[in-house]
Amino acid sequence: MTSLTITPGGPLRGTISVPGDKSITHRAVILTALANGVSTVADYCRGEDCLNTMRAFQALGIRIDESVEELRVYGKGLWGLTEPNGPIDCGNSGTGIRLLTGLLAGQDFFTVLTGDESIRRRPMGRIVKPLREMGATIAGRKGGELAPLAVVGSRLRAIAYASPVASAQIKSALLLSALFAEGTTRITEPRLSRDHTERLFQFFGIALRREGATLLLDGRPSVGWNAAPRLVVPGDFSAAAFFIVGATIVPGSDVTIQQVGINPTRTGLLEIMTRMGADIQLLNRREAAGEPIADIRVKSSRLRGVAVGSDLIPQTIDEFPILSVAAAVAEGQTIISGAEELRVKESDRIATMSAELRAMGVQIAENHDGMIVQGLGTTEDNGRLQATHGRSHGDHRVAMSLAIAGLTASASTVIDETACIETSFPTFHRTLLELLTERQ
Ligand code: S3P
Repeated sequence: MTSLTITPGGPLRGTISVPGDKSITHRAVILTALANGVSTVADYCRGEDCLNTMRAFQALGIRIDESVEELRVYGKGLWGLTEPNGPIDCGNSGTGIRLLTGLLAGQDFFTVLTGDESIRRRPMGRIVKPLREMGATIAGRKGGELAPLAVVGSRLRAIAYASPVASAQIKSALLLSALFAEGTTRITEPRLSRDHTERLFQFFGIALRREGATLLLDGRPSVGWNAAPRLVVPGDFSAAAFFIVGATIVPGSDVTIQQVGINPTRTGLLEIMTRMGADIQLLNRREAAGEPIADIRVKSSRLRGVAVGSDLIPQTIDEFPILSVAAAVAEGQTIISGAEELRVKESDRIATMSAELRAMGVQIAENHDGMIVQGLGTTEDNGRLQATHGRSHGDHRVAMSLAIAGLTASASTVIDETACIETSFPTFHRTLLELLTERQ
């Protein structure tokens, strides 16, 4: 079992980069595989989740040449995928399995999609149900609620679908299936979830329209889209988030994170942290692959608790584990509500973060849709968490959040089961050590 020991020391100081955005990397691999010709995807995420999606496309007959810096994807056009000769393993990735299921539902061949223990517990009915309405033939455990999923490619027809959940994975799975369906698919979601698929469709010139809250896509385009000579993936805001919070809560810190995606459907943490009193500057704003990016500079500051409700959930959805660490050392109470989706992530993040932070001396009340965190800011220990022997529960974001929490602990903290960090941020520990040793 892999574990990580975090020894609290000096401030975090220096300039770092984070891996390419995981969500955008999945989508870049998918859309370049369906493009006509050879694309280059630079600065992509080399986490296991994205490598699994890349391997899936290799199994679907797409040549992909891989180096650490970039991928060369030999796209075969909209109808160029071929039947794999075995099941596709999506590992830990909800995005991988759900987007691939949408894409494969309209092919003319058979596929089986599966993943690790966590993936086989996560809800698939949310995509299987609308895909079946489109005419897809999908079988799975518990009537299609759980993976493995067996997809018999079928002729799909467009539907109008109002998703009950603000989920980019549902939206994107349906947009991909809609490309292969007859007619115009309409998709509405209760709140805007991350819009990387829409932006990448636009980048490739795929004719997606928006009417108010509804997306419209005409299926079976007569001509596909051209390859991208060079698609540069922005740094992952969700990876930067650990250092945004780390630099804020470790006194004396000053950290710049270069070239990070600041798509507003992702950056709820910036708004929340600023309301809590954080010192965050966005510098050198620019664009990459239709996405806004910036360098993010963070200096340490004292935080106060806030209330976070449903209006901020979709754009903060992956940052609640690290936000709960910020809340734990803030002054006063932080109330998170409307976040029931956290229960169906890589782990039940309300339960796992509550348990792990309680072990570090924090008082947390769990609700079905969130938590109430009593920040330690005003105690004698002045925000110091108790050192502990924690575990990730197999969840990469829990593992990295506990590592950052450990930086403000009374002594060394050990975190077990940290191999999962490989799914999104293989260089996390090295990057953290760089900031701990760099002196300006
Ligand atoms: C993702 C969407 C979100 C997010 C996940 C990545 C994506 O999930 O939590 O880490 O790439 O589309 P939901 O769509 O289920 O909210």
